[in-house]
Amino acid sequence: MITRFTQLYIGLLVAIPCLATNGTMTKNLKVLVSSNDYPPTALKLLEDHFTVLQSRYLNFGQEGSTLGREEILKLIPGCSALVWISNLPITNEILDAAGAQLKIVSTVSAGYNHCNPEELRARGIQLTNTPNVLSPAVAEVAVGLILSASRRFTENLDQVRRGEWEIGFDKVLGQDLRDSTVGIIGLGGIGQAVVKRLSGFDVARFIYSGHREKPEAKALRAEFVSQDTLLEQSDFIVAAVPLTNETKLMINKETLGKMKPNAVFVNVGRGDLVDQDALYDALKNKQIYAAGLDVTTPEPLPKDHKLLTLPNLFVLPHIGSATVRTRREMAELAANNIVNGLTGKPLLSPVKL
Ligand code: DGY
Repeated sequence: MITRFTQLYIGLLVAIPCLATNGTMTKNLKVLVSSNDYPPTALKLLEDHFTVLQSRYLNFGQEGSTLGREEILKLIPGCSALVWISNLPITNEILDAAGAQLKIVSTVSAGYNHCNPEELRARGIQLTNTPNVLSPAVAEVAVGLILSASRRFTENLDQVRRGEWEIGFDKVLGQDLRDSTVGIIGLGGIGQAVVKRLSGFDVARFIYSGHREKPEAKALRAEFVSQDTLLEQSDFIVAAVPLTNETKLMINKETLGKMKPNAVFVNVGRGDLVDQDALYDALKNKQIYAAGLDVTTPEPLPKDHKLLTLPNLFVLPHIGSATVRTRREMAELAANNIVNGLTGKPLLSPVKL
């Protein structure tokens, strides 16, 4: 016979683990993880609190825009939060399918131009991203691009692959960072991390442009200048700004025309910051010295794209944040944003919509 005491005891056994680990009863809330490549440590953070649904597919490329998309549309109805791992767009169709209870979209990226921010704002859905944790890794790639472009790694690697080295005292000479002026467009977390990492390269002057002076700039010995001054005076220019309506195509025929002939341009922001036809012309005509890109439009860049014919361009496949530690930290921050948001605590890295 089951006594009242036994019932109470069984009830407590069921309830205690949930209360002990979470403090709140949130297991009835559903969270969707948009891709099958989310680190287990981050998944566990979500699973400790919520019912987690995860796409069986990769949310990138062809798989993401076909099988992945269908799976997301199938799983998202009734979800309270969405972990978005992708550069694919969050469409109105996805938001409609989710339903009115969707509270938070947590993108596992610093950039959020693909997250439909205006629509999220209109629907009262909060957006979080993962800035700062990725700044060191992206800055390292920016430094890599500066060195690769200025020391002509594309041409040099090509020579090695062909087995035809141009050997000679004055062959394949590059540009020095030593005694140069480095201009950072956007002295945010990534821009600041680039300056810190370049501090051992005997750079003469760091300058930066943006909306306003940054308090962090003083310690970095970086000087606030207008964008025109930055373009006209820099030997190395690093674009480290997010893609917005304001920054779209900011590097174009006119702005490239202001750069020095020895200028090396590096982009670790988004491909659409740059008018790629204008960049192609500037590099082809040697109007600027070289460029290094971690981001392009589109991604992947087709292998027969005209940019890839340029010897003075070094391109990477958007690997800025791609280190084991950084990707884990990004994933965990994205998870913790949802844990906080759905348990009534402040979001850790909200995007101001
Ligand atoms: C981001 O998170 O926005 C970066 O581009 C990833 O490399």
